[in-house]
Amino acid sequence: AAMTGQERRFRDSVAAVPTAPSTPRRTTEREPAGETFTNATDSDPALPAVRDWGRAAVTAEPLTPTSRTLGSADEVDQVLATGRSAQPAWAARPAAERARVLRRAADELEARRATLVTQAVHEGGKTIDQVDPEVSEAVDFARYYADRAEELAPGASLHTDGASFTPDVLTLVTPPWNFPVAIPIGGVLAALAAGSAVVIKPAPAVPGCAEIAVGALHAAGVPPEVLQIVRCDEGDVGRHLVAHDDVDTVILTGAAETAETFISWRTGRDRGPRVLGETSGKNALVITPAADYDLAVADLVKSAFGHAGQKCSAASLGILVGSAGRSERLRRQLVDAVSSLRVAWPTDIGATMGPVIEPPGEKLRRALTTLEPGESWLVEPRQLDESGRLWSPGLKEGVRPGSWFHLTEAFGPVLGLMRAESLEEAIALQNATQYGLTGGLHSLDEDEIATWLDRVEVGNAYVNRHITGAIVRRQSFGGWKASSVGPGAKAGGPNYVAQLGTFAPDGLPA
Ligand code: ALA
Repeated sequence: AAMTGQERRFRDSVAAVPTAPSTPRRTTEREPAGETFTNATDSDPALPAVRDWGRAAVTAEPLTPTSRTLGSADEVDQVLATGRSAQPAWAARPAAERARVLRRAADELEARRATLVTQAVHEGGKTIDQVDPEVSEAVDFARYYADRAEELAPGASLHTDGASFTPDVLTLVTPPWNFPVAIPIGGVLAALAAGSAVVIKPAPAVPGCAEIAVGALHAAGVPPEVLQIVRCDEGDVGRHLVAHDDVDTVILTGAAETAETFISWRTGRDRGPRVLGETSGKNALVITPAADYDLAVADLVKSAFGHAGQKCSAASLGILVGSAGRSERLRRQLVDAVSSLRVAWPTDIGATMGPVIEPPGEKLRRALTTLEPGESWLVEPRQLDESGRLWSPGLKEGVRPGSWFHLTEAFGPVLGLMRAESLEEAIALQNATQYGLTGGLHSLDEDEIATWLDRVEVGNAYVNRHITGAIVRRQSFGGWKASSVGPGAKAGGPNYVAQLGTFAPDGLPA
């Protein structure tokens, strides 16, 4: 089968400039393709959601950690050596067989839905409506990457022009705490699909979700030496792991500063892992006078305050164009919607916004408790209890171009409003940050939509929809500019697995 243009471009860019993509990578939310993917629950009530709480509850297991705690550089070396020696046999399995294991993993993850949800509620502070789609996303990753594994096999679509694929031997996955199920397991599944062995080090705040998900993959038939889960301190031992010559690729999802640190550890060395990073964002949703304000308000609030704003994809700016910025009705609706969020610990099933992961650090505290010149609170955030983790949401107006809040990712429940006189000015404000992860437009005007899509510099562009909740295959996830590190194929998209290895002309070593 012929490669698509996108696949060919990607392969060319891998061969030529492995760390500098030359073409813009952006996808736009489109119509659903109508297949069997489950993760439609977050955005599209027209697609049926798969729910099987009964089965999941019956097969849920008590949590028995299988992770190994690494206390020394020697122990790191051992774990990596184990993975490397197990990898050739995994890679040598026919792609169809590896794909079968991944599809079984989808079923095993689905069977643990209730356990995963419960664990993420307890250790991650996510509300049920936030974590349930994450389980769907993990299931979708497993099925989707199984298909991609088959495409890379000899004779399949990515093999046709005389180049064959050699997977990385060992991939290290270092996920964040805010998506404790989908992001860790998405990276793991992609590497396994490529034929790589994997070591995963879950975020210290949420190890249990990764334990359960890794258990599902082992139950599906992934050998324990091929997929190892470890914990270690993030000091010297962590650095030894992340910068180790035996690691080919680190899949990092986290702050841009963390990616810089990881990269700095290999600077000046001939070897050492390359970093594939999905990092920070400062994301805006633009609302023009041609928007349906009711929908725009609902989507802006959902994008800003889902998981208390603790998503790289979250909206932290609303940019109101022209008369939208002067509309008393729109302003009142926003205030009402933000004030109506029910903030509570997520074990309260009525909670629509839960806690932040820890008492706010310097940046978030500044966003929650101070105003820059020109800004005023429409809804002032308040600390709700002594834990320091439960905050009511904040909405402010008057954010000025170039100000701290305009340009800085706060990663919490604060939304700032800006005004622009024209759509062009709004796009310029949206593009002014160093990041380019997600962005949205609410407008029913086709010309405005076309202009915006043409100019906005984000990896994930959403029209008349909330701007969080990417969907495997349908809206793959990744950023532009400082939101992405590496060749930048998007998670849940056609090239993600293929970037976890190298292509070489047939008959030559990769
Ligand atoms: N993939 C997550 C989202 O799209 C980060 O919200």
